[in-house]
Amino acid sequence: MARQNFVLHKLDSTSKARLGTLYTAHGAIKTPVFMPVGTQGTVKAVAQDRLESLGVEIFLCNSYHLHLRPGEDLIAEAGGLHEFISWKKSLLTDSGGYQVFSLTSLVGVSDEGVTFKSHLDGSLHHITPELSMEIQQKLGADIIMAFDQCVGFPASVQEEKVAAQRTLLWAKKCKETFSSSWQQLFGIVQGGTQKELREFCAREIVAMGFDGYALGGLSVGEPKPLMYEMIEVVEPYLPEEKPRYLMGVGAPDDILEAVARGIDMFDCVLPTRNARNGCLLTRRGKLNITRSEFARDFQPPDSDCSCYTCSKFSRAYLRHLFKAGEILAAELATIHNLFFMLELMRKIREALEGGYFQDFKQDFLATYNSGF
Ligand code: GUN
Ligand code: ZN
Repeated sequence: MARQNFVLHKLDSTSKARLGTLYTAHGAIKTPVFMPVGTQGTVKAVAQDRLESLGVEIFLCNSYHLHLRPGEDLIAEAGGLHEFISWKKSLLTDSGGYQVFSLTSLVGVSDEGVTFKSHLDGSLHHITPELSMEIQQKLGADIIMAFDQCVGFPASVQEEKVAAQRTLLWAKKCKETFSSSWQQLFGIVQGGTQKELREFCAREIVAMGFDGYALGGLSVGEPKPLMYEMIEVVEPYLPEEKPRYLMGVGAPDDILEAVARGIDMFDCVLPTRNARNGCLLTRRGKLNITRSEFARDFQPPDSDCSCYTCSKFSRAYLRHLFKAGEILAAELATIHNLFFMLELMRKIREALEGGYFQDFKQDFLATYNSGF
């Protein structure tokens, strides 16, 4: 039943941080890991061979988008998602549980499933936990997610309760529907911002027995301390020998705080979306490359960085590309931001290995928040 998909190498002595390896049918993933977002089967602006040379070991696709277009049957016909997009390493699909609530106009939600209008053409669709499993099994990512209901912030106590109960019911249905010799199914802990509800959800989801455990419904507009508190509340209920995934996070500071609280996996559109808006991540925080002060700045975009973009091009050139609306701007900026995130995760793992994670975290945060 419970397969061994995760090996813990080291527990940090001064925090809850963990160094590990997650194994999937398509390889090993060093954790803590940041998973870039490739909603439509592409990490926007960067081709698969470049992702591989950046050191990406896994990225996330959205079953909601791929279900609407081109459809899971077409992707299955192509030989599955890996084959369709030409990516040999690991993939994870999100269930659609978040996208239907954030992107569509909802028609109705019941214990049975969700009815909504497509964000593409307004056509009517119905997704149930059973259908989400069927979609994600046809897509064939290595890790698939239970279908859940995510409420925003703020939400009423009653809304949070109903969504949490429904998520538990749906998780049970997902677990019963799912069967695979090689795919892994992760459960999602919802429960909004109420401690007792989060604890209840964590206990129930863990009792069902999944290959990994995700925390959902966070980074949806709540204050950061509240998000950190919710991680602390749930963490003691999660089995040590399974990977923990904080969905939709995050920013470098949030990742450090969450790693310190026992999280192994992250995903976020922030580095890639920011890049396309000209916002670069650097050791000293965010830098908007489109600002006029960079017009004649012939230094590398980030002088601390050894990525392809920073090795070859100047701030002035990158700014020019953005100003001229050239598509190369998006590619070069995305390469830099992904390199920055992957480098951050590498440094976190090195610090855990070397036993100096707390010092690294403090030092990183001090510099990151110091600005230019
Ligand atoms: N991505 C970010 N947050 C969530 C969540 O709560 N549920 C799902 N399925 N995906 C997410
Ligand atoms: Zn760079």
